[in-house]
Amino acid sequence: MLPNTRGRPQQRPPRSWSFSEMVDFSDPKRRPRYLSKVIMVALLTAMCVVMLTQPPCHRRTPSVFSVHQPGVTHVLVTGGAGYIGSHAALRLLKDSFRVTIVDNLSRGNIGAIKVLQNLFPEPGRLQFIQADLGDPKAVNRIFAENAFDAVMHFAAVAYVGESTLEPLRYYHNITANTLVVLEAMATHSVKTLIYSSTCATYGEPEKMPITEETPQFPINPYGKAKKMAEDIILDFSKSKKADMAVMILRYFNVIGSDPEGRLGEAPRPELREHGRISGACFDAALGIIPGLKVKGSDYETPDGTCVRDYIDVTDLVDAHVKALNKAERGRVGIYNVGTGKGRSVKEFVEACKKATGVDIKVDYFPRRPGDYAEVYSDPAKINRELNWTAQHTDLHESLKVAWTWQKAHRSGYEPPQAMIL
Ligand SMILES: NC(=O)c1ccc[n+]([C@@H]2O[C@H](COP(=O)([O-])OP(=O)(O)OC[C@H]3O[C@@H](n4cnc5c(N)ncnc54)[C@H](O)[C@@H]3O)[C@@H](O)[C@H]2O)c1
Repeated sequence: MLPNTRGRPQQRPPRSWSFSEMVDFSDPKRRPRYLSKVIMVALLTAMCVVMLTQPPCHRRTPSVFSVHQPGVTHVLVTGGAGYIGSHAALRLLKDSFRVTIVDNLSRGNIGAIKVLQNLFPEPGRLQFIQADLGDPKAVNRIFAENAFDAVMHFAAVAYVGESTLEPLRYYHNITANTLVVLEAMATHSVKTLIYSSTCATYGEPEKMPITEETPQFPINPYGKAKKMAEDIILDFSKSKKADMAVMILRYFNVIGSDPEGRLGEAPRPELREHGRISGACFDAALGIIPGLKVKGSDYETPDGTCVRDYIDVTDLVDAHVKALNKAERGRVGIYNVGTGKGRSVKEFVEACKKATGVDIKVDYFPRRPGDYAEVYSDPAKINRELNWTAQHTDLHESLKVAWTWQKAHRSGYEPPQAMIL
């Protein structure tokens, strides 16, 4: 379509363009138009300069996450793209908490975050920030820009075997990063911390079951790094200035997944060799690995294989919510989170065979460095003080739930290969 030129002055022939013409004030009729244009340009330039010289937070509309809202508890979940952190975030969101997940995705899955975002798309429910807790500036900025009421600190590298091969990585990622989180909490007056610790901090105690009073003598860098992190938290919480509410939860061996099949355990393939027993069982049942390699069959246990206390992830995240609800300023709570019942690796493998319906091949190998023979908890303290008891104690049932997710997600959270164009 041609431009409508009706009523407009006749077009002039094209000619050269100069700045002096643009601001030609010699023509008194044109002067007001040019003047107003120049004033407008000057005003816009001034506005841009003012906006650009403001700190970034003054430029944006404040996010819902940056203000405390009465009646809403905003929880920072570090490591929320990982196995336990994602299940905890799901439970918190279901219970109407506001959740910010910080994860560097080194080991977690963006797919788990997407599941959570699809379930809770409403504004102000869930935000995800990709950041490394080893970067104090980034962590400090996250705390400055968000109004957290509590922190659940799950993020960590968490494989005993790997920790014996890469101890420095473990001390850095677990101990030093916990210090970074704690410093940010202190600077920004976030007073409640729920810390993910482990039964590996006890080492190989002489007496079973393990109570919270059992002396801690960790025997591998993973357990030592977690014990050091605990010590830092405890020392800080003792200082009057801190006035913290701290809950340290020492988990035993975590298994299972969301009973509704929305989330699962999906470690990176490259971590398989360090992996946990449930992952290895499922991989064997799926035919990803030829069979199970059980490390050590000469331990002083009833059937010679290691004995562990397997806690279902649904029960574990319930313990976190109970701990959060009971957290009190100026008080530290330390709790074992386990079922109180030890099961041998052989028992576990039998339950896995039954849950998957696959006759998994099992080979026995020498002991793995850093492993201990028998570990199970005394959960009396957490039963008594937090009114928490493990509900999902049938190994076969927990593995069946996890197997349902594994079968439906053979490539973890990634889309199946056939769907990738
Ligand atoms: N799985 C178990 O049986 C078990 C037992 C005892 C304690 N724990 C503890 O529970 C916590 C969670 O374990 P998990 O099994 O879910 O592990 P996971 O590997 O599935 O999840 C850990 C998450 O932390 C993230 N992360 C790691 N380093 C980070 C960093 N520097 N910055 C930001 N994010 C980082 C990873 O990307 C991952 O998403 C860990 O602290 C672990 O030590 C686990």
